[in-house]
Amino acid sequence: MKGLGLLLGCLLCIFKKGLQFNGWSIKVPSDATGEIGKSIVLPCTFTHPHKTFDRTLTAIWRIKEPYNGTVVFKCVAHSSSELCKTATSYKNRYKLLGNPRHNNLSIKIDNLTWSDSNRYFCRVEFSGDLHDKYEGRTGIRLHLIAAPRIINITVSSNEDHTFKARCTADGEPLPSLTWTGPLSSNSSSVTSMNHQITKELHHLTHDGKYVCTAENSHGRAEGAVYFYKFKGANSNSILILICIALGVKALMLLAIAGIGLLWKGDCFSGPGSLSRQPIQDSTYENLDRRNNGGGSQSLPTH
Ligand SMILES: *[C@@H]1O[C@H](CO)[C@@H](O)[C@H](O)[C@H]1NC(C)=O
Ligand SMILES: *[C@@H]1O[C@H](CO)[C@@H](O)[C@H](O)[C@H]1NC(C)=O
Ligand SMILES: *[C@@H]1O[C@H](CO)[C@@H](O)[C@H](O)[C@H]1NC(C)=O
Ligand SMILES: *[C@@H]1O[C@H](CO)[C@@H](O)[C@H](O)[C@H]1NC(C)=O
Ligand SMILES: *[C@@H]1O[C@H](CO)[C@@H](O)[C@H](O)[C@H]1NC(C)=O
Repeated sequence: MKGLGLLLGCLLCIFKKGLQFNGWSIKVPSDATGEIGKSIVLPCTFTHPHKTFDRTLTAIWRIKEPYNGTVVFKCVAHSSSELCKTATSYKNRYKLLGNPRHNNLSIKIDNLTWSDSNRYFCRVEFSGDLHDKYEGRTGIRLHLIAAPRIINITVSSNEDHTFKARCTADGEPLPSLTWTGPLSSNSSSVTSMNHQITKELHHLTHDGKYVCTAENSHGRAEGAVYFYKFKGANSNSILILICIALGVKALMLLAIAGIGLLWKGDCFSGPGSLSRQPIQDSTYENLDRRNNGGGSQSLPTH
């Protein structure tokens, strides 16, 4: 019985040793979650078998796969008194936060974008009399979240001279889009791709302000567009005046309402190519944003 215990203990000890690869280990969380536009710290600490290592140390982070993935960050410290000098920082967005001499290779990524969604692996190398290196195999999976943002909101005419409103937003999780405005349209359609979703409101008939609301668990954003059809006089040419002003406002759950408005305007006008048919309607489209959803009617959508 005692012998068995000893054997088991020994096996355990070998197992443990094996897991640590003779004193080497790298500790990272399996997942990290960051928000688009914000920064995130990817933690990484290691152990090594050497009593002292006043030798050149290289810290490396790569993406996609261990050993073979693209290096996005690399820094080198030639002695223990020296800071780790950055040799590679892809797009200058990666910064070492941890102290490698204290076994800490944590990095910070600024200004997260959708393309940062990836797996990240950290690696440490010693050089000098004894070349030694170790790299984590599991890596950190970086997940991204984002409050909704209205990317585009327009009114346009179809070939059959009906008008539609169209709203595109992004966010993660994918936001849900709602159009509200003068009761008029009887149909809508939704398409989505990656982090973007577009909702179209068909057969606009009523003049007024149409508001598009994008909402997910991280926040809410609104955009609005004005749609007016004027009855023209007995003119044989169409006058189409479409004025698009594009603005984006994200209303995060915790954000203060009413921060300064951002306007980007673009106008064009001119006779359309459809002038063979006397059409007496013209449209005017404009865009507005507002801070709350009060005072608008819901449209039937399906
Ligand atoms: C490393 O990448 C190269 C080319 O990208 C590939 O041919 C090779 O099989 C990869 N090696 C491993 C171990 O994944
Ligand atoms: C590693 O460094 C980071 C950044 O300075 C710090 O937040 C973290 O607590 C450190 N980890 C350990 C285990 O000391
Ligand atoms: C963040 O990235 C976006 C797009 O890549 C860029 O327009 C913006 O200026 C960056 N902001 C900062 C603070 O680096
Ligand atoms: C907005 O949408 C309109 C029509 O759907 C398109 O012509 C325009 O290029 C879009 N603008 C942006 C900034 O995506
Ligand atoms: C929606 O309204 C348009 C014009 O008002 C009409 O031509 C079309 O048939 C209607 N569609 C449905 C699904 O009711």
